[in-house]
Amino acid sequence: MSQSIPDVASLPQLENPLENAKRAASYRAVDENLKFKEHKVIGVGSGSTVVYIAERLGQYLKDPEYTEYVSKFVCIPTGFQSQDLILKNGLQLSSIEQHPKIDIAFDGADEVDVNMQLIKGGGACLFQEKLVSTSADIFIVVADSRKRSSKYLGEGWRQGVPIEVVPSAYVRVLHDLKEGLGAVSANIREGGKSKAGPVVTDNNNFIIDADFGEIENPYELHKQIKLLVGVVETGLFVDNAVKAYFGNPDGTVATM
Ligand code: 5RP
Repeated sequence: MSQSIPDVASLPQLENPLENAKRAASYRAVDENLKFKEHKVIGVGSGSTVVYIAERLGQYLKDPEYTEYVSKFVCIPTGFQSQDLILKNGLQLSSIEQHPKIDIAFDGADEVDVNMQLIKGGGACLFQEKLVSTSADIFIVVADSRKRSSKYLGEGWRQGVPIEVVPSAYVRVLHDLKEGLGAVSANIREGGKSKAGPVVTDNNNFIIDADFGEIENPYELHKQIKLLVGVVETGLFVDNAVKAYFGNPDGTVATM
């Protein structure tokens, strides 16, 4: 690594220990996986952890040893927040329509199980996140270590599986999730931009959070939810991620 790319261990600690964890995971994920001469199209996900992915890419962009390559990267966002991150760090913004095949994508997660199956969508960007991650040859997850479950999804956070639904179908989907698929609870996510009323996604849809308890077979559950009329996408990301980085507050990182 070039002298001007700071090593995480040498950086001053951030005030919030969780931010240290997120930064350590993200920096290491970029350092270990980005192939500057091969990768051209980079997916940048959403959430508070990928802030450090974009920051690291921005550091490489400014380093004379890497500028030539990073200035030619095109970055594909998963929503308005990640679009903003790409631009703020001086990176080139593009779209999935222009680049439907992505070389490598980085994104956060709300929960990761022992088989590297994920729950995502805490930030309501799950549709674009799934579009980008499933279009990528390599999908890398970055998270703080709280997100790692010791066995199943649904074990720790119990915030439920985010599900994007067409607004006019939300009552029907809530009913089908509880009565048909046995969700312990299913609620429309409230507190959108206007604070009152449902969260509205970048695609003008609503989000339902459905708690299924511990999820032994995420693929089967994903399939069943997808079959409900009105469901656009689920926050179960199955058989997609190839590597996960979990940062700890002391700056150490575990990988899976
Ligand atoms: C947004 C997401 C995020 O990637 C996920 O919620 C993790 O966020 P954070 O890095 O802030 O913990 O899926 O829809």
